[in-house]
Amino acid sequence: MGVPRGGHADDRAESPVDAESPVGKAVSEPVDGFAGELVHVLGARPNFVKAAPVIAALAARGARQAVVHTGQHYDRRMSEVFFDELGLPEPDVNLGVGSGSHAAQTAALLVGLEEEFIRRSPALVIVYGDVNSTIAAALVAAKLGVPVAHVEAGLRSFDMTMPEEVNRRLTDQLSDLCLVTSPEAVGHLAAEGVPVGRAHLVGNPMIDTLLGNLDRFDTGRVRAEHGLPDRYVLATMHRPANVDDPATASALVRSLHGVADLAEVVIPVHPRGRANLLAAGLDGHPRVRVLDPLGYVDFVAAVRGAAAVVTDSGGIQEETTVLGVPCLTVRPNTERPITITHGTNRLVSLEELVPAARKVLEGERPAAGRVPPLWDGHAGPRIADVILEYLRA
Ligand code: UD1
Repeated sequence: MGVPRGGHADDRAESPVDAESPVGKAVSEPVDGFAGELVHVLGARPNFVKAAPVIAALAARGARQAVVHTGQHYDRRMSEVFFDELGLPEPDVNLGVGSGSHAAQTAALLVGLEEEFIRRSPALVIVYGDVNSTIAAALVAAKLGVPVAHVEAGLRSFDMTMPEEVNRRLTDQLSDLCLVTSPEAVGHLAAEGVPVGRAHLVGNPMIDTLLGNLDRFDTGRVRAEHGLPDRYVLATMHRPANVDDPATASALVRSLHGVADLAEVVIPVHPRGRANLLAAGLDGHPRVRVLDPLGYVDFVAAVRGAAAVVTDSGGIQEETTVLGVPCLTVRPNTERPITITHGTNRLVSLEELVPAARKVLEGERPAAGRVPPLWDGHAGPRIADVILEYLRA
């Protein structure tokens, strides 16, 4: 397995590592006297997109790395496709924890990760985002006295009914390095008593991946391959609050059908909501196209070609901001307010969705339309530098 593709050409050019050397194996020279292993813990789809540029930048600096895949996401379309497309190194191990209740899944994660960390004795563990794999890895590492770096620290929805908010808050308390994508997150960390020296505003590695792959997002190809019309609204829905309860899922489907009265709706369906959304008749409207989950390249190409996006995802709010595509987020809050103040995002209730979609389809655009600071494609190298600096100190 070669060095991942996610980083920057100039970054790799200064690399002391042979471009074909395995990411997980020892490199010829320790980095400035530091030779320990950095362990990345990845579990769910959004983790993979964030990790690719960080792994690439650390590889370019000669760091010894391992990738532990927890197996939280396991379907080929939810996991393997991303490793292939993003040039991520083959995981050194897959713990295969799979799905379950929060307690069952988190318990399996804790047991598997503890065994793995004891065996590997990492110099530092790197965790991403806010999924159950993130908090589990941070908790295990902290109890073993292994330092933790949290990529995408400090985001807050202030909505503790979201499992992700619980995961974020606890992970940040356990992290020695809080690597921050957005300026307001620094303030959230300070307000929760995280020492200011732990927080580093580094930008957004998910946007590194986006910008590094721009020439692969061919909207014409994705239209042809998936039979998409010229004008469509791309929808994605998977939050427990929107899809787990059949009555809410039905109300959501009614609103999506209202959007489909205005324009074709294309919806790649996350496995979580599939049964409830289909039982509520999602595909019963002639202008709703239900697809299986798409890989990264096809998905972002579909976003790029959309007239508007309707979502409850976190990362898609960021991707639409950078691509300049209007985004209607069906949630009462967002942990990413910068996508509203700077970007193309707007929060809507189910009742507001159809009128808001109508306005967007009639040409209304948000006043903002700026890319947030440091979402410039260089977050991965900044993160690598902060981590290596910390380890040297
Ligand atoms: C998880 C994250 C969420 C993130 C999302 C991205 C947590 C608490 N939630 O939600 O923050 O936005 O990933 O996709 O970590 N399933 C499959 N195949 C898979 C994975 C899941 O069929 O490969 C189905 C199973 O029925 C499973 C359900 O999806 O029970 C939920 O999976 P889980 O990993 O618990 O959470 P997500 O909803 O995917």
